Amino acid sequence: MSQIVVMMGAPGAGKGTQARLLQERRGWPQISTGDMFREIAKAETPLAEDIRRVQSEGKLISDDLVIRVVHERTNREDCRHGYILDGFPRTTAQAAMLEKLAVEQGNKIAAIFVDVPFELLEKRTSGRMTCPVCGEIYNVYFKRPQKEGVCDKHLEAQLVKRADDVPEKIRTRLGEYENSTRPLLNYYKESKRLHRVDGTSELEAIYKEIEAFLADKSERSGSLSKQ
Ligand code: AP5
Ligand code: MG
Repeated sequence: MSQIVVMMGAPGAGKGTQARLLQERRGWPQISTGDMFREIAKAETPLAEDIRRVQSEGKLISDDLVIRVVHERTNREDCRHGYILDGFPRTTAQAAMLEKLAVEQGNKIAAIFVDVPFELLEKRTSGRMTCPVCGEIYNVYFKRPQKEGVCDKHLEAQLVKRADDVPEKIRTRLGEYENSTRPLLNYYKESKRLHRVDGTSELEAIYKEIEAFLADKSERSGSLSKQ
């Protein structure tokens, strides 16, 4: 049995940062619904235009569409030995779909809550810069690239800011999180599948704690193996 690692937390908590480290070091694919929809939104189609609008407003994309995209992506070959969900589920309907999917795929769910206090989230999001080539995540306050405005691995690429990383949209995103997503923490906690990490620690300290939790789960169920 393989594992579905669910990264949970508010906008800017560090879900993507930790999911990318897990992908790099453990080999499980990082499936970020936010990244996938930002990619789909680049096309010149009515659907892409809708997604661009919803994402840049900081609202949630419809459950039907998100569920379809996640179902298709997680049934690909590279997910056979487990995968990391970054930014999914975000609603009760999405969580219900994931339960079914886990049964269908013979996987177990382990949720990680990256806990960061509200006051820090605006600095984390407003300071974020991303490489348009590899998706590496930087921050002008906390994780500066070696050369200002340029990715360490892609010197030809100017780092970009996300359209939804501005104060007004950040407030909308935090509102969506409070109303629709935060209640899911209790759902996973009650079913003893949630582990909280202190998201204000250093990146590597958080990573170590996540790895230790997953290793412990793996030992108990004999489910996670390094690929
Ligand atoms: P999405 O892309 O998922 O955005 P989000 O949930 O708002 O989360 P973020 O990506 O902003 O934050 P993160 O937790 O990944 O933080 P990061 O690691 O980058 O979704 C965007 C939109 O897509 C949604 O608003 C919605 O429209 C749509 N969408 C996506 N999924 C959907 C779904 N399931 N249903 C419906 N709609 C959906 O870190 C943030 C910054 O902090 C970085 O600069 C980083 O360098 C820094 N940082 C990270 N960790 C640390 C640390 N420990 N110390 C110091 N700095 C740190
Ligand atoms: Mg992210």
